[in-house]
Formats: sequence, structure tokens, C-alpha cells
Amino acid sequence: MDKKEHIVTPYEVSGEVDYSKLIKEFGVSKLDDALLNRIKKHTGDLHIFLKRGIFFAHRDMNWLLDEYEKGNKFFLYTGRASSKGSKVHLGHLIPWIMCKWLQDKFGVEMWFQFPDEEKFLYKNDVTLEDTEKATREDMLDVIALGFDQKKTHFLIDTKHAGLMYKEACRVAKKITFNTVKASFGFDDSINIGSIFYTSMQAVPAFLPSVLKGKNIPCLIPLGIDQDPHFRISRDVMPKLGYYKPAILHNIFLPPLTGIGGKMAASGAAETSIYTTDSPKEVETKIKKYAFSGGKDTIEEHRKLGGNPDIDVSYQYLKMFFEPDDKKLQKIHDDYKSGKMLTSELKAILIEKINAFLKEHQKQRKLAEKNIDKFILKNPTK
Ligand code: TYM
Repeated sequence: MDKKEHIVTPYEVSGEVDYSKLIKEFGVSKLDDALLNRIKKHTGDLHIFLKRGIFFAHRDMNWLLDEYEKGNKFFLYTGRASSKGSKVHLGHLIPWIMCKWLQDKFGVEMWFQFPDEEKFLYKNDVTLEDTEKATREDMLDVIALGFDQKKTHFLIDTKHAGLMYKEACRVAKKITFNTVKASFGFDDSINIGSIFYTSMQAVPAFLPSVLKGKNIPCLIPLGIDQDPHFRISRDVMPKLGYYKPAILHNIFLPPLTGIGGKMAASGAAETSIYTTDSPKEVETKIKKYAFSGGKDTIEEHRKLGGNPDIDVSYQYLKMFFEPDDKKLQKIHDDYKSGKMLTSELKAILIEKINAFLKEHQKQRKLAEKNIDKFILKNPTK
């Protein structure tokens, strides 16, 4: 049977995502061993997200490292668009954890955008009050990951509009409605705010250059669904006199219900693990919903073994929760041979996620008093 053709845009991810095909479709480059080794020369080791192919593609990373080696340091940029009641899930954390790791390894600044107008514009039932409330919650998740407060700046579109709007207009003037329609699948009935939005997402990629009065390279770690925004703005930025930002793309953490798609904040609660879930909720969700590559009966499983490639619990361990290569290999082999049962595999994952969330939730609570320190003070010119 043919796989359903995938659709990957910032506003829709559906079908079984074929990442090799996306590399060609989007015109990005594979993150290969030569580049990983080049990164490792600077970082000493490689994060599991890099070693295990969770970050799988890039744009202009060699250029970024050339500049870095010449003494031209880059800054990091990524973002989160809050919606009504939408919560941060484990998938969102992937690009943010990568940013935190890169910030530590390269000692660089981090610019984090919270476009609180994006989902308001795009979704009918979302108000600006909803996104304002959710944005504060989401900031706690970002701070909880341990970013260096002195080197990290939060930009909130409606709050920092005075700083960003002029630059967004300069970008918007160079983008046609045709380009936006083709890139995001919009038709003529889309509201005009949504058409303009991509120029707001472009701004943080060069705002530090504007503020410092010199060109600074930018690196954006993000989920591949966000690439269309930057495919457009990378064409515009040289026309405004700025560097094109380099990009590192991650694959999606799959929903609990099966690999191939994307854990999504707008999906049903049983497809996602949220950062605020209790240990009991995590246990129930994994036991009930995590798609299993095991066989139907214990006898069959012992005889034939499970399939780790399609098993969501194994994939979560591989992608996120078991950093030890040897332990992961043993789990893989035991599960594949039938020695390990699905219930045992799930028990390992439940324990790992709950240990991670216990610490995350502690840091999230502590972050409450630090939010204002991270929000950029509007520079007075
Ligand atoms: P948002 O809020 O939809 O998602 C935030 C980030 O999480 C990534 N992501 C995932 N990564 C792995 N597995 C998943 N299941 C998964 N689901 C989401 C997204 O790709 C994204 O990187 N428009 C943006 C906000 C934004 C932004 C940016 C993102 C503003 N500026 C710069 C990246 C870079 C948005 O709606 O993201």
C-alpha cells in the first residue's frame, strides 16, 4: 500500500514524513559525518541529538563554522508560538535543548522569540489574551532548561513591536503574496495578518546585527516544519545587507500513537506527553497509548521478538531518554530477540520520563521568579 504523501508546513504536518524526501523537497543538506566531526572539534563531544540523527539536516553550517573559526562568533535564535491552552510537549524541547547545549559549548548569546500574535492570527478561536497567558507558561519551560540568563533574551512580538516592526516592514516589502501562498499553502481567503507574519519571524535572525551595528552570523535550530519561514527570509536578508542565517533541522518526536508523524500541541491529549504531566499521567499514557512493536501474545513475542523500529517507547529512548549507547543497544537487542517484553520496555521509559520531568518541573517552578530577567529590556536609542 502507498504511504500517504506527507505535508510539512508550519501550519500542517500530516502523512508519514519521509525525511530523505524532505531534504530534496526543501533543498537542505544532510548533516553528514564530516560536518558532525567538524562540530565535534569545537564541542569536544556530540549531543545524542546530533549523534543519533535527531538533527538530520542543515543550511550553511560550514559557512557558520568558517566564520566562527575566523573569530566571528554567531548567536542562536529559535522560538515558540503559544496558542489557547496549548502546552509544551516533549517534542518542543528538542530544538531548545539543542540551543542550550550549543550555548554552553560555544559560549554564545541566545535570542528566543515568542510570537504571541501568530496563533491568534492563524486560528479562529484564539484570542490575544489566550496567547499572552500561554506565553508566560511556555517561558517557564524554556528557562527551566537552564539557559544562561546573562546571555539569553526573550522577544515577545506584541511587547517588542516597537523594536521589531520597522525591520519587519523592510522584510515584508521584499516578499510577495504569491511567494507566501506557495510556501504555506494559503489561499485567497487567508487573513492579511497571517500573510505578514513570516516577516516578524524573520526579524530576530538579524535584529542583534541591527542593535550592535555590525553583521553577526545567526544559527537557528528548529523543527523542519518551520523551514518555509526561513526559506523565504534567507532570500530577503542579503538584500537588506545581512547574512543568511544558518539552520539546523530536527526530525519530529512522534506522537504516542505511532511513528511517522509529529507530537503536536493541538493534537489529542493522548498523543502527547506534556512537561506538566504528573507521574501518574505519564504512566497511564505510555501504558495505554504508546504504540508497541511487540507481538500480540507473550508466547509469540518470546518466540519472534519485537520490532524496535516501529515501537514508540523504544524510539523515545533512542531519541531522547537513554543517552548511554551500550544500554540502548542492550534494550534494542533484548526487545528484538523477545527477551524483553513490551511491558518491561514501557516501564523503563516511564521511569526515565518521570525522572526527567521531576527535575524539569522543579526548575519550572523556580523559573517563575526569573521570567522578567529574561525578557529583553527595550533598548533606548
Ligand atoms: P511551535 O510553537 O509550533 O514549535 C516550537 C518548536 O518546536 C518544534 N516542534 C517539534 N520538534 C520535534 N518534535 C515535535 N513533535 C515538534 N513539534 C514542534 C517546532 O518545529 C519549533 O521549532 N512559528 C514557530 C515559532 C517561532 C520559531 C522561530 C520556531 C518563532 N520564531 C524561530 C523556530 C525558529 C512555531 O509556531 O513553533
